[in-house]
Amino acid sequence: MSDAVCHVDFETMEAFMVDVFKGMGVPADDAAVCAEVLIAADKRGIDSHGVGRLKPIYYDRIMDHKIQQPVTEFEIVREQAATAVVDGHHGMGMVIAKRCMQMAIDKAAEFGMGMVVARDSTHYGIAGFYPMMACNAGMLGMCGTNARPSIAPTFGVENMLGTNPLVFGFPTDEPFIFTNDYATSVSQRGKIEQYAREGKDLPAGWVIDREGQTRTDAVSVLDELVAGTAALVPVGGIGEETAGYKGYGYATVVEILSAALQQGAFLKQLSGFDADGGRVPYRLGHFFMAVNISAFTELEAFKKTTGDILRALRGSQKAPGAERIYTCGEKEHLAWLERKDSGVPLGPEIQKQIITMRDALGLDGYRFEFE
Ligand SMILES: NC(=O)c1ccc[n+]([C@@H]2O[C@H](COP(=O)([O-])OP(=O)(O)OC[C@H]3O[C@@H](n4cnc5c(N)ncnc54)[C@H](O)[C@@H]3O)[C@@H](O)[C@H]2O)c1
Repeated sequence: MSDAVCHVDFETMEAFMVDVFKGMGVPADDAAVCAEVLIAADKRGIDSHGVGRLKPIYYDRIMDHKIQQPVTEFEIVREQAATAVVDGHHGMGMVIAKRCMQMAIDKAAEFGMGMVVARDSTHYGIAGFYPMMACNAGMLGMCGTNARPSIAPTFGVENMLGTNPLVFGFPTDEPFIFTNDYATSVSQRGKIEQYAREGKDLPAGWVIDREGQTRTDAVSVLDELVAGTAALVPVGGIGEETAGYKGYGYATVVEILSAALQQGAFLKQLSGFDADGGRVPYRLGHFFMAVNISAFTELEAFKKTTGDILRALRGSQKAPGAERIYTCGEKEHLAWLERKDSGVPLGPEIQKQIITMRDALGLDGYRFEFE
């Protein structure tokens, strides 16, 4: 194994992930969807949610903890023309999410808007993937998901809310889609895992402990987030001074939309453990919305206005010393331009995980340069 970061081309990495998912018992078409969502994160430079999550989130939960079903039973439990409620029966989150968003898009194509919600699902990867599906269909998209309890409410120290991303996607006349693809906490677990893997301290202000103090030791914070003795800080920061209650409010909005319409689990019910400390499914809920732009205006006009807004923002006066102003989705586009020829960067920890899964599943056809 190499101590350095090594690169594997995207095609090989995606094919490997498809084979790992198939090796876990995921049907071929679904395995392709799961790998597509994970590789999209790697392509977009979102290293916290790409191949680095394959073992700890998907492989371990299916193969070791047995709390996720590789074969997804996608049950529509209630449906009207523009809406639906889905039960995912602890299947593959990406498969459930992609199908829900496609249903919302199909409904919006017919009725102007579509909203589909899911319960008893599992981790669906980068939230931005799904609104971008709507954008590629000439629509605007929105989605969110609840997650393991992590965020403490303003003036609280207990991990109550998930990192609950609230994500929009808008088509524009620019080379990249606008998507504000982020959690409602200052940071999220995937990024803390990344800091832990790289042996780095966390910035102050990401995590609060039971004494109300910020914590910076990434490795112990990961354990304490599970134990509930530390919590993530909502967007806006600790307390009221920098308006932490706004992030807290948005995280609550996501928790409600991920649980109340679909009558799913919420807050501490998503801990993944039962009262005796045994592993149980996470029972996540999601919501997806698609809005057909042509029900309001011409698609090209919408794209131009959106692009004009983004260009005006980027063209506005910069802070002293700042090189440029970005708009949402731009850094991910730049990451792709930078990475497309070099491939997925893999640190030593992920290299080890890849070899572990390959050997356990007997995927002998794969040999990597870093071995
Ligand atoms: N499935 C889940 O349970 C779950 C939970 C939390 C987060 N996530 C995913 O984790 C990923 C990372 O989340 P995060 O909270 O760490 O995101 P982040 O803090 O890295 O923010 C990324 C977003 O901010 C934008 N951005 C970054 N710098 C910018 C700047 N200077 N100006 C304008 N926009 C800028 C990016 O374009 C992108 O949309 C996301 O893909 C998110 O969907 C998933």
